[in-house]
Amino acid sequence: MAVEQTLSIIKPDGVQKNLVGEIYGRFEKSGLQLVAARMMHLTSEQAQSFYAVHAERPFFSDLVSYMTSGPVIVQVLEGDDAIVRNREIMGATNPAEADPATIRADFGESIEENIVHGSDGVESAIAEIAFFFGDDGVCPRTR
Ligand code: RTP
Ligand code: MG
Repeated sequence: MAVEQTLSIIKPDGVQKNLVGEIYGRFEKSGLQLVAARMMHLTSEQAQSFYAVHAERPFFSDLVSYMTSGPVIVQVLEGDDAIVRNREIMGATNPAEADPATIRADFGESIEENIVHGSDGVESAIAEIAFFFGDDGVCPRTR
């Protein structure tokens, strides 16, 4: 096991549904620690850049519209195997296929409106954390 950091987003549908406390509670109960957080309304340019890996996919413009439809809450989670553990807490991309008791199974509406984002690997986590929090936006847990 390695201590990792991962980038998480509560997407506009999760904020709209007032699920912030519920979702943070699931992170905390699983032992993941919050080390950075901010609320923001993404611009189209930011959403396009963040999801640039999907630029050629047919759902890209819908994804950008969805991610800019309201404010999001972006956070960095830290803990043992944080990247995979956060993906387990989130559940599969399509809520209909997500394991029971995952965030997406419990609250997701569709393969697009699926409540949360989580980094999918070490390299993407590093890049995504830098995208939102730069070099010095993460706050170490000193107690
Ligand atoms: P995320 O990046 O947001 O954590 O989601 P993911 O890894 O589980 O899924 P990914 O393939 O990276 O897709 C990114 C987001 O695009 C939307 N999507 N829509 N309409 C569609 O077929 C479709 N497929 C994906 C979802 O919001 C998905 O989370
Ligand atoms: Mg992804």
